Amino acid sequence: MSVELHFNNQRRDVAPGVSLFDYAESLGINVPTSCRKQGKCKECVVEVTEGLDCLSARVPAEKHLKGNFRLSCSCRIVKDFSIVRCHTMRRGEMRIERDALHLPGGNQKLKLDPAVTRDGDRILLDGVEIARSTGPIHGLAMDLGTTTVVLRLLNLETGEVVADASFENPQRFGGSDVMSRIHYDTEEGGHLLQRTLAGYLTHAIGEFPADPRTIYEMVVAGNSTMRDMFFRLNVHSIGQSPYRSITELEMADGHRPTTSLAETAKKLLLPLHPQARVYGLPIISGHVGADAAACMLAVDIANEERLIAIMDIGTNTELILGNENKIFAASCPAGPAFEGGKISCGMPGLPGAIEKVRLNADGSFSTQVIGGVPPEGICGSGLIDLLSELLRHNRINALGRFENSEDRIVVDASGDQPVYFTESDINELAQAKGANVAGLRVVFDQYGLRFEDLDIFYLAGGFGRHLNVESSKRIGLIPNIDDAKILQVGNASVEGACIALLSRTKRAELESLVKRVTHCRLETHPDFFNYFVEGCQFNPVESSNALENSTQIS
Ligand code: FES
Repeated sequence: MSVELHFNNQRRDVAPGVSLFDYAESLGINVPTSCRKQGKCKECVVEVTEGLDCLSARVPAEKHLKGNFRLSCSCRIVKDFSIVRCHTMRRGEMRIERDALHLPGGNQKLKLDPAVTRDGDRILLDGVEIARSTGPIHGLAMDLGTTTVVLRLLNLETGEVVADASFENPQRFGGSDVMSRIHYDTEEGGHLLQRTLAGYLTHAIGEFPADPRTIYEMVVAGNSTMRDMFFRLNVHSIGQSPYRSITELEMADGHRPTTSLAETAKKLLLPLHPQARVYGLPIISGHVGADAAACMLAVDIANEERLIAIMDIGTNTELILGNENKIFAASCPAGPAFEGGKISCGMPGLPGAIEKVRLNADGSFSTQVIGGVPPEGICGSGLIDLLSELLRHNRINALGRFENSEDRIVVDASGDQPVYFTESDINELAQAKGANVAGLRVVFDQYGLRFEDLDIFYLAGGFGRHLNVESSKRIGLIPNIDDAKILQVGNASVEGACIALLSRTKRAELESLVKRVTHCRLETHPDFFNYFVEGCQFNPVESSNALENSTQIS
């Protein structure tokens, strides 16, 4: 009598009665914990993708978990002859954008001016001694996304990247988008989401080839919700109209001079040097957060004469448009579809994800899978290719309906389970795309620009880096402009966080820059809904005729 257990893609036949945590340990899998299986720390969350009904009943310690999330220390397999598949919230190494490309503000050209310096064996933070050491001086930059987390460890004396890491944001058990997380954080209390993330960060930092106590500063970029939650602030106000961070409200009331944040690593449960500072980059406004601010630093928009746009496609897509004279920004609530969320066989860009798709003349698909392993699902760049190919071969129409009377399309059946695609998946992607297109149109209209007026269109983010430009233009995810103007730059947000970590001058520049950005509030724009409906269709996005009639903001 045994159970077939698949834990983080490792398979073992096990006997019932033992906790999932114990099985994980026997497989050599690191499950985050700081209570050693006592049901107290709530860090050992796993997602059960098959065999949920083969597990013991939920215990009171799990009352904060819904759906297929369980505490691995508190649930046992209780049914024989069953199959259970589960994984920790960090399923594996995601594709890391080690170097951002084509960025004018890259840290190679940066004059080093970090907040942490050395004077003999004295380590100084803003000129004040915080430690004595002759060892290296490290800093940590983090891009904290709703779906992914990217870390870079830097040597602050040389500017070199010492190590990096990335993983899925383990806060998914609180929902896949920012509104669900705000709701969860507000309802549950106890900073569970932050504590879980801190547990995963502790593991990631522990795997770096450096003593964590040599890390004296950390700079955090992230959307307003992720950033504020990480700093253990109340995020309730970001989820309510007019959608403002508590730091914005306090600044408006004169209680703080900036929306940036500073806290000790200890308070945030991070295993850095005890005197290390964690600095949260300033936000722009509302949902246009510190990640958008970091992107501005990465592309050096403060010193840019050309007209540029930055689009960082994610669960919340950030849009920035302008140059040194005038900058507009917006945040589009696209949802997680383009990151694989809410899609039948969707998954992040991990090994096993189909990342490229081609539909052949005989109706079969050719696919490319990350890591060259059997396919388990399809990630965002694969979804865009798939939509584009289905359109190109008239298998779907511009409304996203299957032209044949099929209820699903099997893209690849060579793995354990077939990877397929449905009309409801298309609907999710259409809505995500609609929000992005509406955001683009509103920002360009308000600025008084046509898409073709741009000099450069930066596609930022891990997702933007890997998507196929031709496919993206065909389905209407990005404007139909000259390919030569489109630069896929990778993770500009973490790049901006690195720049802020290495340069106090640039940090100060950003503090004043965010205050002169005009925030385009999409939710109150009269044309937003029409643009959204139009944007849900799979057609190339051309400049809007509405420009002549639009009210420009000067
Ligand atoms: S190990 Fe702490 S709650 Fe499970």
